[in-house]
Amino acid sequence: MSILIAVADSSAPWITSFSKALQAELPEQKLVFLGEPFDRRAVSHAIAWKQPAGSLANLPALEAVFSMGAGVDFLMQDSRLPDVPVFRVSQDDLTFRMSEYVVMHCLMHLRDQRRFDRQQAAKLWNDDKEPPLASEVRIGLMGLGVLGRDAASKLKVMGFDVAAWSRTRKTEQDIPVFAGGDELDAFLARTDILVALIPLTNETRGILNRNLFEKLAPDGALGGPILINVGRGGLQVESDILSALNDGVLKAATLDVFEIEPLPQTSPLWSHPAISISPHNSATSEPKATARYIAGQFRRFEEGKEVCGFVDRIRGY
Ligand code: NDP
Ligand code: OXD
Repeated sequence: MSILIAVADSSAPWITSFSKALQAELPEQKLVFLGEPFDRRAVSHAIAWKQPAGSLANLPALEAVFSMGAGVDFLMQDSRLPDVPVFRVSQDDLTFRMSEYVVMHCLMHLRDQRRFDRQQAAKLWNDDKEPPLASEVRIGLMGLGVLGRDAASKLKVMGFDVAAWSRTRKTEQDIPVFAGGDELDAFLARTDILVALIPLTNETRGILNRNLFEKLAPDGALGGPILINVGRGGLQVESDILSALNDGVLKAATLDVFEIEPLPQTSPLWSHPAISISPHNSATSEPKATARYIAGQFRRFEEGKEVCGFVDRIRGY
């Protein structure tokens, strides 16, 4: 039997390193790749990332699909995904990198670092404003899953006033947690920096829109609400982000993910002075760490043990 590495480009450097490390972890397994000839009847497992739609169909012996990342929207959107268990990545290497990014950008907004970058370029010595303390800034985490919980604990260490919003009610959290559509407005009303760490599902597509931005706290210590989207580009309406920034509904935005990736050269987001852009790498994982993790998941699945990161296909995450 064989494991199918289902990606659009198996020669990409990350995939090459990942596959080499996976083969070293699972020397007894045969790896096969999309785009090369292989026996579809012999594929028992697939490890996928943004595979061409339909490419996991017609694999009669397929037992499970493992996502190479934490998000599985690309799998859930594939209408020909076979009815087998799907597992996603949920490991420290990815989680800790995401928290580093979220904390870094919250601190950059707190301390107005973009202004000092501009001042440096103009050789300007100007410290006319005292920044607020972190404790005066209210962070709202949309999503309190694996990534949201770690980010919350690290933001609290810095002193931020952190709350979260999730789909289902949470008990025994050390931060205020709002739940479901009924409590979304109250959550937004106490939020100065909104951090999106929710999955892209039918319920969340386009949720980061003008109507939502207008409900954020307009009067916070940073002088206007700030958006950080590290979830998925499909959560955001980019034309609404631009108009909200242009008329002061939003003060600034950090965007790691986009409606279309790579972000087209023609996108006005690139040159907006209040937007910080990164190329969907807030939590780019190390290929060896990911291979080790997925090999562990594979072995547990083979041994009939519980595998972490099980995806509920009805919920979509
Ligand atoms: P989890 O599944 O652990 O957590 C998801 C959280 O979102 C949960 O708290 C869940 O609520 C909440 N949620 C889901 N749907 C809704 C909804 N309709 N309304 C309110 N809350 C909702 O996921 P992770 O924390 O591991 O990852 C989150 C997302 O981050 C991934 O799906 C992926 O898209 C993105 N990501 C981005 C990366 C990047 O490089 N930019 C890297 C890795 C992940 P509940 O707790 O009630 O289930
Ligand atoms: C992920 C990602 O979902 O990197 O893991 O976006």
